[in-house]
Amino acid sequence: MPKITVLPGDGIGPEIITEAVKVLQVIAEQGNASFTFEQFPVGGVAIDQTGVPLPANTLEQCKSSDAVLLGAVGGPKWDTLPGELRPEMALLGLRKELQLFSNLRPAKVYDALIEASTLKREVIQGVDLLVVRELTGGIYFGEKTKVETEQGIKVTDALTYTELEIERIVRLGFETAMKRRKKLTSVDKANILESSRVWRAVAEKVAVDYPEVELNHMLVDNCAMQLVRNPKQFDVIVTENMFGDILSDEAAMLTGSIGMLPSASMGTGSVGMFEPIHGSAPDIAGQGVANPLATILSAAMMLKYSFGMNEEAEQIEKAVFNVLEEGYRTKDLATEDSKVVTTQEMGDLVVHALKS
Ligand code: IPM
Ligand code: MN
Repeated sequence: MPKITVLPGDGIGPEIITEAVKVLQVIAEQGNASFTFEQFPVGGVAIDQTGVPLPANTLEQCKSSDAVLLGAVGGPKWDTLPGELRPEMALLGLRKELQLFSNLRPAKVYDALIEASTLKREVIQGVDLLVVRELTGGIYFGEKTKVETEQGIKVTDALTYTELEIERIVRLGFETAMKRRKKLTSVDKANILESSRVWRAVAEKVAVDYPEVELNHMLVDNCAMQLVRNPKQFDVIVTENMFGDILSDEAAMLTGSIGMLPSASMGTGSVGMFEPIHGSAPDIAGQGVANPLATILSAAMMLKYSFGMNEEAEQIEKAVFNVLEEGYRTKDLATEDSKVVTTQEMGDLVVHALKS
């Protein structure tokens, strides 16, 4: 019986998580699966309850479960805390402790949502790309220094990678491309960064094992531009931690709303973590207007990547597709003629579509 640790977190986290759990419960009812859900504090709520963003008990529970479903963390209430005590440190701690070195962020444009995008129809129609982001290295985890000098504070965030860390994520990029359209874009800043030059060399080396995959290298600034100029040129993008963070937010907007993008984090261990790529959106928390679809689609990724339940994952994707086709939208996606629904109603609609 798969054991799922549920970490709702802050802001809109609890609202969107409720809908995703509801959907997973229906999947369990319909099939032979049965899941257990156990909920634990993480992020700001954990700071309030225990003084730290990632309590030892929460981490232990995650480690002993089969998969983790996470909402979002952070909010203005905790913004003035020192760096290592911020809610976001919980995320980084989980990624590191669960050894989740890879983060898959698919951006697929649904036909029904084309009008919701800020970009032109001909640019985005048919976009189907996947960002493979390195998640446990780079500038997020490098050494930090902060010293007083005559010119004021002098501060460093180091961007560090080993060849091994680069190779395993690049390899996953190739493996993923093999299952898709066999096109891999490795994104770096090799004209400036030493780490990127090593990244590029490793990518070239790994490419030898995947002769069927067309590999190209792209500088990150160019990639940011190409994503809005002609996103259809991309199949799989593989890149380091911070470039992937930035490019995946950009890729999200191709789909119309950041509220649509799910993610799966996998690694060397057996526990996967699944979360929407958006944040805790404190400005709209508690109003019932948040879009739960990214979290529901993250639950689908859990079924696929952690439990091998590909069919059930597809059922969820199809249900989401149908609900959107029928014109239902949360506020973030609403256009003139859409039927605007609340967070909970959107969850109910997906459940209904699953049942029919
Ligand atoms: C994300 C988020 C996180 C990140 C933050 C909240 C630490 O933006 O998952 O993309 O930067 O990785
Ligand atoms: Mn981000």
